Amino acid sequence: MKTPLVLVTAGPTRERIDPVRFISNHSTGTFGYAIAQEARNRGCRVVLVTGPVSVKSPPGIKTIHIESAAEMQKAVLSWAGRADYVFMAAAVSDWRAVKPARTKIKKAGRRLLLELEENPDILKTLGKQRNYRLVGFALETARLEERAAEKLKSKNLDMIVANKLVKGSKLFGDNKIDVVIMDRYGSRCIYKSLSKGRLAKIILDKAFGFNIK
Ligand code: CTP
Repeated sequence: MKTPLVLVTAGPTRERIDPVRFISNHSTGTFGYAIAQEARNRGCRVVLVTGPVSVKSPPGIKTIHIESAAEMQKAVLSWAGRADYVFMAAAVSDWRAVKPARTKIKKAGRRLLLELEENPDILKTLGKQRNYRLVGFALETARLEERAAEKLKSKNLDMIVANKLVKGSKLFGDNKIDVVIMDRYGSRCIYKSLSKGRLAKIILDKAFGFNIK
């Protein structure tokens, strides 16, 4: 049997406003890196497309460093055709500046209006025509299950891993979280207070349907 190729995305993207500033989010990349390492440990070939994080590139994994959503999309689409599994764990910035400034924007004692446009939805593009199993992630602040179910369907995913941003809790980084995992066949499982390493094992077990060695 051919060794499966697993494509994982992780971390935030950065959208440039000017040469010294960007829009981004708090993602640390922990979840995506845990999934990539677990897949490697199970004997898969792994390609990790990652935004800027402080985690070191894991050994035995082809790691591609990107900054913007456009760069992530390019790298992901160039590998997706060869992939057997895609895990889209990155926190892709939904917006980018319409016109990033070429030189540093100077303050002028008045409000600054920044015009933003939507980034492409990489996961949705991945769901359109595919020969791989596709797993998406969702972070919500309200109506978690309803919105996760909508994303599972509208992005044509096999599975979605959703967690809620609870006020006052540390969601990003290496801590224990609650998630709900839903698949396209109607299964719905809730996991409470698990590390991302433990969740990575559960997610791969479910996605693979069996353990690959
Ligand atoms: N995603 C993506 N490209 C984007 C935005 C999100 O591929 N431009 C992927 C993420 O990697 C994640 C999934 O879509 O796997 C859900 O991301 P999330 O930010 O929760 O949802 P959105 O689809 O962006 O919708 P919204 O922010 O409105 O909830």
